[in-house]
Amino acid sequence: MSAVEIFEVGPRDGLQNEARDIPASEKIALVDCLSRAGFRRIEVASFVSPKWVPQMASSAEVLAGITRAPGVSYAALTPNLRGFEDARAARADEVAIFGSASEGFSRANINATIAESLERFDPVMEAAKAAQIPVRGYVSCVTDCPYDGPVAPGQVAFVAERLFAMGCYEVSLGDTIGQGTPETVAAMLAAVTQSVPAERLAGHFHDTAGRALSNIDVSLEAGLRVFDAAVGGLGGCPYAPGAAGNVATEAVHDHLTALGHETGLDRAVLSEAAQMARAMR
Ligand code: HMG
Ligand code: MG
Repeated sequence: MSAVEIFEVGPRDGLQNEARDIPASEKIALVDCLSRAGFRRIEVASFVSPKWVPQMASSAEVLAGITRAPGVSYAALTPNLRGFEDARAARADEVAIFGSASEGFSRANINATIAESLERFDPVMEAAKAAQIPVRGYVSCVTDCPYDGPVAPGQVAFVAERLFAMGCYEVSLGDTIGQGTPETVAAMLAAVTQSVPAERLAGHFHDTAGRALSNIDVSLEAGLRVFDAAVGGLGGCPYAPGAAGNVATEAVHDHLTALGHETGLDRAVLSEAAQMARAMR
């Protein structure tokens, strides 16, 4: 059996899009449950502008309130230096910068061109290096963009290579609106793995069209061994109209297990967390 890791993003990607103002205590309870499930990494916070994503305004409170399990890395999104400093003050174990392979989504999501965003990430990388905080990179819209349509694989490879070259320890490839097909995902991965080794890549599939598990299959064939997922299938992106939630963690776990992979997760605890997550909607 080969190991495949699920990177849990529910408390961040899952909850960021919920309209109800979810109290920090509920988020903390969800994270504490997830901490018992056996994840090595859980994304719990996002230090972005509260005007852009009000739901994430309680990120510092969440990081302060959780019971940290030994060996678990609690992650936060950081779009700029200010976000990084806030994440560091809140004791995030790792942070993530997030860019896009398409100009339309880059503008809508972080109010910058791709080139501007890469420049903005430089000081974050520098500060993180000085503080010895690992940085993960995200590339959104790796096959399709809600504003620009189909995205060229070479463009994804360009942004992924830049994030990797600037020091991201792993680059997560986001099918932000869940429109990727096994064919477009395979073509994209063929291009990206030319510049970033498969063992430094993660797949981040939203399940809008119900193809996330098939897209995970082609990613496994391309050598990827890390997949982002949100417990209970929560979420979406406020700046990607029509995007549904991330593929559900429990579905990915069951799929990988049936294929003979080992996730190291406790299925009973996952079910408990999924029930909790669904009740938060
Ligand atoms: P901007 O308006 O260009 O930036 O936003 P600005 O520097 O002019 O700042 C505007 C205001 O935000 C100012 O406040 C700043 O102080 C404040 P004001 O003077 O108006 O009162 N501000 C901040 N506040 C708190 N924390 C910060 C911060 N930075 C500035 N870090 C900015 C640029 C990047 C800030 C904005 O566009 C933003 O916050 N965007 C985040 C959008 C977002 O979080 N999207 C969802 C996450 S990405 C995602 O879900 C995709 C992913 O899952 C992968 C996939 O599925 O593809 C990762
Ligand atoms: Mg996402």
